[in-house]
Amino acid sequence: MQPKRYLITSALPYANGLKHIGHLAGAYIPADIYVRYLRSQQRDVVFVCGSDEHGTAIPIQAMKEGTTAKEIIDKYHQAMKEDFAHLHISFDIYHRTSEQLHHETAQEFFTYLNDRNELETKETEQFFDEASNTFLADRFIKGTCPKCKSDRAFGDQCETCGSTLSPDELINPISTISGNTPIKKKTTHWYLPLAKHEQFLREWILEQHKDDWRASVVGQCKSWIDGGLQSRAVTRDLDWGIKVPVKDAEGKVLYVWFDAPIGYISATKQWAIENKKDWKPYWYDADTQLVHFIGKDNIVFHCIIFPVMLKLHGNILPTNVPANEFLNLEGDKMSTSRNWKLEMRDFINDFVMKENGGDQCVDMLRYYLTQIAPESKDSEFTWKGFQDAVNSELVAIFGNFVNRTFVLMHKLCGGKVPAYHEAKEDAIDAQLRRDIMDAKQKVEASLENYKFREALFEVIDLARKGNKYMQEKEPWIKAKSIQENPDNQLLIDNCLNNCLQLTANLSILISPFLPSTALKMCKMMKVVDKMLEWSNAGSLKLLSVGYTLREPQLLFRKIEDEEVNTQINKLKSSLMQTPEIAAEESSSYLPLKPEISIDDFAKIDLRTGIILSAQKVPKADKLLQLEIDLGFEKRTILSGIAMHFTPEEVVGKHVTVVANLAPRKMRGIDSNGMILMAEDLNGKLYFASAGDLSKGGWKVS
Ligand code: 2FM
Ligand code: ZN
Repeated sequence: MQPKRYLITSALPYANGLKHIGHLAGAYIPADIYVRYLRSQQRDVVFVCGSDEHGTAIPIQAMKEGTTAKEIIDKYHQAMKEDFAHLHISFDIYHRTSEQLHHETAQEFFTYLNDRNELETKETEQFFDEASNTFLADRFIKGTCPKCKSDRAFGDQCETCGSTLSPDELINPISTISGNTPIKKKTTHWYLPLAKHEQFLREWILEQHKDDWRASVVGQCKSWIDGGLQSRAVTRDLDWGIKVPVKDAEGKVLYVWFDAPIGYISATKQWAIENKKDWKPYWYDADTQLVHFIGKDNIVFHCIIFPVMLKLHGNILPTNVPANEFLNLEGDKMSTSRNWKLEMRDFINDFVMKENGGDQCVDMLRYYLTQIAPESKDSEFTWKGFQDAVNSELVAIFGNFVNRTFVLMHKLCGGKVPAYHEAKEDAIDAQLRRDIMDAKQKVEASLENYKFREALFEVIDLARKGNKYMQEKEPWIKAKSIQENPDNQLLIDNCLNNCLQLTANLSILISPFLPSTALKMCKMMKVVDKMLEWSNAGSLKLLSVGYTLREPQLLFRKIEDEEVNTQINKLKSSLMQTPEIAAEESSSYLPLKPEISIDDFAKIDLRTGIILSAQKVPKADKLLQLEIDLGFEKRTILSGIAMHFTPEEVVGKHVTVVANLAPRKMRGIDSNGMILMAEDLNGKLYFASAGDLSKGGWKVS
């Protein structure tokens, strides 16, 4: 049964800096495509987002910029809102968590749970800075990393090796506020006891949603649940955030991850106020479909913690959480601290705001980011890839087809939609007409299953079929012999009628992905935007016979080599300024081991594999127990990577496995093989994957 209404959310970005295209590809473009698709079917849909303005990230940024937290959130909220608007992300509301309405909503939520004894309090010892008289959030404690010995480690994570840390693990911890060594002091906090809800989570995610949620999402949830659900603190000692609404809780605020997802609710409330609607059905009625679009680092919050909160508060649960993996940039992980990133703002300034840019560049970026969307594994943005996608697909296939159709229609049919002469239809015409009708179903099925890459491929494939059809029909050749064969005009008419109906269909099917392009096409066809309604797709009578159409306009321009080079140089030069690179350059590489023969090498059987699940091995700090799909069989392999990766980070990774290594028992568990890893000069580990393989078991040689 079709849901009655949809509430679609995109992760609320932290208002501590500009966001990069990895964020855009992960949580915003797919959500926008989905929403535009739903809207084009007149479904009742509300698309909410806003800035996440609490948490330690904000005061830390304020310290860096020598300003106040309030100035930081005002500045970045405005900037992010503008960037999203420039890239045509069509939120119904872009709210902010610093609004009074949100504070009240989050406090009411907390009180509701606390009053019903769903939260528990616990006293623990935490780091305290005597000089500034404050408890120190994890990010406010700096020290030496116990794993890589870098001194760029914080209480939550090491900036050098990326390991997740707790403040107690740091060697020589110091306060970043005063520079002093902190003391330990007792403090009381409220906790959400997740273990109580294990049964519910198992049933709801691992049984009910095991087939309709993405495998990587279910896999991560399974690792969390199997790893043992710990109580999560939902309050913090901090002076920036939403006050804990309890007497005698001075200096305590709600944990940012408690209040941020409630931001989806307050945004819906604000939207309802502005649009004179009732917000409640969107959060309470079972016939609402709630979908959270996020990046994979947010899975636990949206699939485990927030759903438990929603259940306890009497709200509906998300129907799906189509989380995306990460987008790398030119061969490396995007990173703000290393300056290896492409901010949305950079693209807007360098392309959208340029003389030959505008809306078509927005659509080019939306196109490429959808084509490479990291839906099932990490993917990669390269400038060359962007150029190829634009030049060889948007320009050469889609744009070329539309342009040829219009030029030929003007030249051979007097600028009017020609008639379709059924009697002259041949098998090629009939096949094209079937392709047009089928395309709607294909795109629809992919979109309904959150497979945006696949959906976009189907649209381009239809344009590709259009080009092939025109090539086979060669109306320009037929036009040369009309005198001798008057019937040729009828064949030309049929060809161009089909091509024009296909063009009209393309405008509908592409509209969720490339909204400006679709509107531009409507202008050329002299039709109103209403034609873009989804129900019109599949029709072969979208443009009426005899109707006069406008002259064609080029839909997309080419991306020149020079632009690609400029961008690559810009990226490299910004990276060169960071201290990590200088350190890397001065380090030396390990010497090579003694030579081996080809026969020595040939004894090793390397296979591709995919990590299905992962868990820590009890009492073994370094070991992760991995379940690996080798295609022909599934195996348990123990790997010494637990200091570098959490179990949930590795699920879904593609790995290369030494498959004929003798089994070995460790901690009572049989390990059947070994996975290969690469180590950089800082000791950071990377998966030595065999690339873009979707299946396990392939031989690596
Ligand atoms: O990871 C982040 O950027 C968070 N600010 C996302 C919050 S999503 C939601 F819960 F608000
Ligand atoms: Zn480290």
